[in-house]
Amino acid sequence: MATERTFSIIKPDATKRNITGKVIDRLEGAGLRVIASKRIQMTREQAEGFYGVHRERPFFADLCDFMTSGPVVVQVLEGENAVAKNREVMGATNPADAAPGTIRADFAESIEANSVHGSDAPETAAEEIKFFFTEQELVG
Ligand code: PPS
Repeated sequence: MATERTFSIIKPDATKRNITGKVIDRLEGAGLRVIASKRIQMTREQAEGFYGVHRERPFFADLCDFMTSGPVVVQVLEGENAVAKNREVMGATNPADAAPGTIRADFAESIEANSVHGSDAPETAAEEIKFFFTEQELVG
C-alpha cells in the first residue's frame, strides 16, 4: 500500500474547547503523520469555496456560519491508506451514528459541530490540500 495524503480540519467547536491536542493524538495514534498544519480564521469566501459542492443543500449557510465562527486547524496528514484511515478514526458525520472510540463519538457535539473534517477520496484530498496549502508548506 502506497503512502497517501489526506486533508483534515479541526473545526471551531474543538478549537473552542481547547481539545486540538486530543484530536491530533487520535490521528497520530492511528499512524497518520501531520506534514502541514496551520491555525486560521476561515473567511466567508473560503468557507463558501471549500464547501461549494454542498451549495444547494439546506444546511449550506449554517455550515459556512459555523466554519467561520472561530479558529480552525487545517492539516495535511500522510500515511498508508490515509484517506480511509482518517475517516475511520473520525467516525460517522453525525456523532449519534459514530462508532465508539472514534473522534466524533467521543468529542463531537452535533452533526454541525462535529469536531473534524476529512477528505472523502484521494482526488478530493488533492484539491482540498491545494485550497489551503502550497507545495512548499508540505514537509514530510
Ligand atoms: S458527506 O460525508 O460529505 O456526505 O457528509 P454530509 O452529510 O454530506 O455532510 C457534508 C458536510 O456538511 C456538514 N453537515 C451539516 N452542517 C450543518 N448542519 C447540518 N444539518 C449538516 N449536515 C451535514 C457535515 O458536518 C459535513 O461537514 P464536513 O466538514 O464535510 O465533514
